[in-house]
Amino acid sequence: MTDAASATTPAQLTARAAASFARTPDDRLRFLLEELVRHLHGYVTETGLTVDEWAAAVDFLTRAGQTCTAHRQELILLSDTLGVSMLVDLLDHTGAPGTTESTVLGPFYVPDAPERPLGSSIVEVAGPGRPARIAGRVLSSDGRPVAGALLDVWQNAANGRYAVEDPDQPDTNLRGRFHTDSGGNFSFWTLRPTDYTVPDDGPVGALLRAAARHPWRPAHVHLIVSAPGYRTVTTHWFDDESAYLDSDAVFGVKDSLICHFEPHPASQTGGASQTGGASQTGGASGLDEPGAPIGAGGTWYSVERDVVLAPAGS
Ligand code: BEZ
Ligand code: FE
Repeated sequence: MTDAASATTPAQLTARAAASFARTPDDRLRFLLEELVRHLHGYVTETGLTVDEWAAAVDFLTRAGQTCTAHRQELILLSDTLGVSMLVDLLDHTGAPGTTESTVLGPFYVPDAPERPLGSSIVEVAGPGRPARIAGRVLSSDGRPVAGALLDVWQNAANGRYAVEDPDQPDTNLRGRFHTDSGGNFSFWTLRPTDYTVPDDGPVGALLRAAARHPWRPAHVHLIVSAPGYRTVTTHWFDDESAYLDSDAVFGVKDSLICHFEPHPASQTGGASQTGGASQTGGASGLDEPGAPIGAGGTWYSVERDVVLAPAGS
């Protein structure tokens, strides 16, 4: 620490600003604040940031904050598009080997989705879209089925939009909560998700355009899976045919989360058991299952994917 009343060099100023947090009683908070100052000052020093550039940055953050509403979180979107959300996820979610990996929550999660019976559909309105049946088991990392696990799923409609951001969809469309049966099995009908753009009509969208970046996310289904005694996992199932798997605007893709949507002609049976996807045997069309989306026709798709949970505290 310098004896002079004022800091005369960038290094002195950085040291003084960091030291101003030295009496923070909470150890972790003190460490985070001191490091924040050091890294932020390092960025300003190394880039030679000008007064006008800093003013532009503050103006950007101000507008990003002002864009936030109950259904729009521009600051999370900024964190997502800078890759910070996924960096935190990578560092904080070092799951046990073999357990289902996590990825971003995103801004379109709404708690309290309707509880739905296994095998039913989360599609509440007839309309465009490719029917898909998703089935699997929730397992513990030692391979035992987890009965009564909760799957909270949500996804976008054929127009690329989530119910929460689309006044033309019922609030609970394409959202649902399912509990696994005694064998850990789950199954439900939905639509094959579509690629879509993150909200790009605000400051973050302008930033992406200034950087010649696209705003697309690869098609995916969101899910949060929880069960007593296990770590909750927030994750996605990505469609392996999406063109954006290598350039997700929010860096959320992990190879282990990429799924294949197996196509079936309309005439092919769905295999109504809860344990698997489509059977290849004859019988009624998969689309005749009681849970299949209303009015669905044409090709339908199936995905089989287990979710593996790590024990709590691991
Ligand atoms: C989403 O997947 O819903 C999402 C995630 C991050 C930013 C925007 C959307
Ligand atoms: Fe999404």
